[in-house]
Amino acid sequence: MQNVMNLSFNALGENEGFARVAVAAFATKLNPTMDDLAELKTAVSEAVTNAIIHGYDSNPGGIVYITATIDDGEIDVIVRDEGRGIHNIEEAKEPLFTTKPEMERAGMGFTIMEHFTDMLDVESSMSTGTIVRFKKRLAGKRVRCV
Ligand SMILES: Nc1ncnc2c1ncn2[C@@H]1O[C@H](COP(=O)(O)OP(=O)(O)OP(=O)(O)O)[C@@H](O)[C@H]1O
Ligand SMILES: [Mg+2]
Repeated sequence: MQNVMNLSFNALGENEGFARVAVAAFATKLNPTMDDLAELKTAVSEAVTNAIIHGYDSNPGGIVYITATIDDGEIDVIVRDEGRGIHNIEEAKEPLFTTKPEMERAGMGFTIMEHFTDMLDVESSMSTGTIVRFKKRLAGKRVRCV
C-alpha cells in the first residue's frame, strides 16, 4: 500500500534542515542504508534550497510544498514552489550553471540531485513555478554481513 506524507512551510533557510530531516524520518520505515539516507537528505536539501533562494528569491512569504510517497521499496519526492520559474530547464541542469554567482552558488544542485537519485524530473513555467520530482529505491539494497 502507498504511504503519502505532505509538508508545507515558509521559504525560510532555517526550514531546509527541518524538511531534510522530516523526509529522512519518513523514509526510515524502508530500512535504508546510511549512505542512501544521506543521499536522499542531500537531494531534498538541494531542491528545497533552490525553491527558497531561486524560486522565491529568499522572500519568506513564499510557501514550499513537499509530497513524499513510499511505495514498493521506493520513495518518490516532489518539491514544488509557486515562484519565478526556470527559463530554460536544460540549461539550468548543466553542471556549473547558476544565475546567482554573486551568492557563490556552484551551479551543482541539479547535478547532485541527478547523481543521488534514480530518476529526476523538472517541470517549470514562468507563471506557475517549479516542480522537482525524484525517486530513489531504498529497500532491498542492504548488504548482509554473516
Ligand atoms: N526552484 C527554482 N526556481 C527558479 N529557478 C531555479 C529553481 N531551481 C533552480 N533554478 C535555476 O537553476 C539554476 C541551477 O540550479 P542548481 O541547483 O543546479 O545550481 P545553483 O542553485 O545555482 O547552485 P548550487 O545548487 O550549487 O548552490 C539556478 O541557478 C537557478 O537559475
Ligand atoms: Mg541549487
